Amino acid sequence: MRFPTTRLRRLRQSAALRNLVRETRLTPESLVYPLFVCPGKGVRRPVSSMPGVANLSVDELVKEAREAHGLGIPAVILFGLPEKKDEAATGAWEDNGIVQQAARALKRELPELLVIGDVCLCEYMSHGHCGVVRSRTRQRPPGPRVVVAKSAQAATAAAAEAMAQEFEIANDETLEILAKTAVSLVHAGVDMVAPSDMMDGRVAAIRQALDAAGSSNAPILSYAAKFASAFYGPFREAADSAPQFGDRRSYQMDSANGREALREMELDAREGADILMVKPAITSLDLLARARQHFELPLAAYQVSGEYAMLEAAAQRGWLDRRAAALETLTAIARAGADVIMTYFAADAARWLAEDPR
Ligand code: PBG
Repeated sequence: MRFPTTRLRRLRQSAALRNLVRETRLTPESLVYPLFVCPGKGVRRPVSSMPGVANLSVDELVKEAREAHGLGIPAVILFGLPEKKDEAATGAWEDNGIVQQAARALKRELPELLVIGDVCLCEYMSHGHCGVVRSRTRQRPPGPRVVVAKSAQAATAAAAEAMAQEFEIANDETLEILAKTAVSLVHAGVDMVAPSDMMDGRVAAIRQALDAAGSSNAPILSYAAKFASAFYGPFREAADSAPQFGDRRSYQMDSANGREALREMELDAREGADILMVKPAITSLDLLARARQHFELPLAAYQVSGEYAMLEAAAQRGWLDRRAAALETLTAIARAGADVIMTYFAADAARWLAEDPR
């Protein structure tokens, strides 16, 4: 196996040869297209930090999904911008919630398209956290005004830390609302639920609630290893879901921790997750590769808003070739071990792959 007998360049001499021996093949069939649904009709409100992405009313969402499905994208994941936010996340689980409306419309118009419902409360909570906020010092939980007023005061890191100490995100109280949300989404027609909140025990709580509600066939795609990441910024603009005080580090993972990520995945697998997801994607390729060795479950990766935004920004300046760079990242995510990739490039990638499969 030594030069000059071994010459790895022999198989790189033509497109046909390279295609023949390509190890990772990207196809639209493994891509999931994230969509943001908002109230109204004929609404297409661009998200400034995510060129090409918009908040869509249900009618526009159906159009967007129809086009993507026509390009070979099998699935969408839905995020909602509710009419009103409160401290019970009512918009997440009410019968006529915005995602529930979108799911009904999609299943009516495009029955073969897989509809995944993201299960989280941050878009629906007045304080923007993924769970119920409880004060450690008061008897009753703080109202939104208290929380917002306090957060305005918390200008320094020390003040922010003090606030984080005063308020906690109550794990077990949140589980009930998450479970209720999952049941409501499945009743509205979603084919799969995807909890992204990072509360402990949510997969078991959701599995139990779905089974009790007669939906034992609805799969759970768990955001199992989800890091507290700077790369979710543009999403929070898109979904209007930025926390009004503090941050998400008391529930999302510390990005320094790889072994803990495997524990999160192990727990979710035991609690009944059908698909395990890692997020963000490009900063977690090592974990995808490790998870591929550890688990026989299908693996997913979420190429998040900030990953999309940085590629878009560089492409807009002419600093990167948008198509080549996007396809390269998606291929790397698949090579690392992802069977399923959630990406804002899904529709474009399907177009590119139809022109030039790779
Ligand atoms: C909800 C949720 C978030 C993302 C997916 N589900 C935001 C967050 O955790 O703050 C991020 C997706 C993206 O950045 O594209 N909890």
